[in-house]
Amino acid sequence: MLSHKDNEYLCRVGPGTPMGALLRRYWTPITRSVDVPEPDGPPVRARLFGEDFVVFRDTSGAVGVLDELCMHRGASLALGRVEGCGIRCLYHGWKFGADGTIMETPNQPDPRFRERWRAPAYPVREVGGLIWVYLGPPDKQPELPRYSCMVERPEGEPRRPPIRVGYRHNWLQGLEGVVDSSHVGILHQSEVQEAKDGDYASVRIIQDKFPTADDAPALEVRDTDFGFHYAAIRQAETAGDERYVRVTAFILPFTVSIPPGTSMLIWVPIDDYHTVQYAVDDGVPLDEETERSFLRWLGLDQNILDPDGFFIAPGQDRAAMAEGRSFSGYQGLITQDAVVTTSMGPMYDRSTEHVVPADAAVLRMRRLLIKAARTVAAGGAPIGLDRYVSTEKISGASGVVHANSDWKDLVPGHVELTGGRP
Ligand code: FES
Ligand SMILES: [Fe+2]
Repeated sequence: MLSHKDNEYLCRVGPGTPMGALLRRYWTPITRSVDVPEPDGPPVRARLFGEDFVVFRDTSGAVGVLDELCMHRGASLALGRVEGCGIRCLYHGWKFGADGTIMETPNQPDPRFRERWRAPAYPVREVGGLIWVYLGPPDKQPELPRYSCMVERPEGEPRRPPIRVGYRHNWLQGLEGVVDSSHVGILHQSEVQEAKDGDYASVRIIQDKFPTADDAPALEVRDTDFGFHYAAIRQAETAGDERYVRVTAFILPFTVSIPPGTSMLIWVPIDDYHTVQYAVDDGVPLDEETERSFLRWLGLDQNILDPDGFFIAPGQDRAAMAEGRSFSGYQGLITQDAVVTTSMGPMYDRSTEHVVPADAAVLRMRRLLIKAARTVAAGGAPIGLDRYVSTEKISGASGVVHANSDWKDLVPGHVELTGGRP
């Protein structure tokens, strides 16, 4: 349980909020490369932490992120023309470079105006099929994380774009769902069974064989330099002394490397009531058949996204539930997670919940986020930015280990903090 006050503290991300200030200290995906594909193509409107931006790819291929509303008199630059290494506002034709330089002011020939000002522009990087932006104080800009599962594709070879799903609810609801191992064998049991029964190639990207029938894992959380690792430890199907362990890495502020560690899920707050999840991996294209069954396993073969890419719930198949064909009546992992987190409302008030030891990782995550936001509010550097972190080594993992061995061995990037964090 969380007090109503702490719930608000965690959930609200707009300008001037403590959580908003924390989130702005990290690099954040604003959209996917595939959504702004061509130089001089149409610009894209993007919302992040309750603020509006325009994203465009200029003639040279460089991506710019500017405030959406033109600095002259506020027309949306998302209506603008991308041309000649800049974006031109339709209203009076002011033209801006990706770095915010004012290139032209056709209604004001005197250059002193454009030389004096600069459009609000933000540092941008393109890695892992995502466009990352930094919105924090310029003197605090950190290194871009280099997660190994997001290695670049060889020059000229195609990349399977990251999966993008929008949700009409607060970011924390989504993020909590992916540090919550104890729901996997319950909510997703039909898909887990399918993974066990075969068709393994199509699902191995985000899931292994789940060799256990144990639905009540013991949870161990250990703080690391980037956040924490937590292990969900289950009795393995194999022998008495073996444990099936799923280790998940939570990387502040909103990234999770789920077992088996080949992909990462990033939960980006769009505003207090909208969230976008990106699922990113090495981007290696799948053959047609594998791609199809992978999308079906996730539920993305159905019409579950509206034209803006936000989740809309399909009907619940009560007949399939009654006949034992489906536990949840929904098909696919993303559909199941999304109906559950959406059912909690636009911003769940955690002051009415009843948590148990199986929720330990969720509770630890909230604690670390609150602590990090307080650190930033007090002028300090938050978790993950307060010391050097080898981001390329961070990964979740899964495996069957002997009861006496340490699950830490499954995750070589585990840098434990002596004594943990207070
Ligand atoms: S409002 Fe954009 S140029 Fe005037
Ligand atoms: Fe799930």
